[in-house]
Amino acid sequence: MFKVALLASGKGSNVKAIIESVKAGEIPVDIGVILSDNTSSGALEIAKKEGIKHYCIQEKRYKTILSTKTEKEYVRILKECKIDLVCLAGFMRVIKEEFLKNFYQKIINIHPSLLPAFPGLEAWKQALNYGVKFTGCTTHFVEADIDSGPIILQAVVPVLKDDTPETLHKRIQEKEHIIYPLTVKLIAEGKVSISGRKVYINI
Ligand code: GAR
Repeated sequence: MFKVALLASGKGSNVKAIIESVKAGEIPVDIGVILSDNTSSGALEIAKKEGIKHYCIQEKRYKTILSTKTEKEYVRILKECKIDLVCLAGFMRVIKEEFLKNFYQKIINIHPSLLPAFPGLEAWKQALNYGVKFTGCTTHFVEADIDSGPIILQAVVPVLKDDTPETLHKRIQEKEHIIYPLTVKLIAEGKVSISGRKVYINI
């Protein structure tokens, strides 16, 4: 069976959405392991509740990257669990070259904007402050540059007149919970191919 790892730092709603899809029989994958850098991540709670193998590997030295030593530990566990696809689900650390090399074109991410607009932190706030009329979310393969990499799926969310950062992020997340499980499903079923920056969905 195709084995997936989920990496998360925050509340873990995308982790939950992917697990629910797997449990509903919509995605033909095993969740091999859930990893977090944050002891209070909701993703670890969900893993415990669902009886999924999980580890918290903290990084004390840096805030936005992993030290080479810590990154090696992530790679070691992912290899040991024979992971076919690594899904970053609100994992708030930049993945470095060595990790990328070990999982070439096998790491994906979800970002809360229509990339390449608004990479980086709190993309929904950036969109609101910029005054765009539409934003959304994007799944993409991970490359060395932040929130770059070939785009797999996108979903559009209109920005409403009375939106606050919270209401806008909530509506973006509703779409994330649709496109992320769908992205994992398409990859697991072998329906996704990459050519340069372009991703083709062969259905
Ligand atoms: C999601 O909105 C995800 O798109 C974002 O973090 C949130 C995690 O939510 N990721 C990024 O901003 C990556 N650049 P969750 O913990 O509820 O899944």
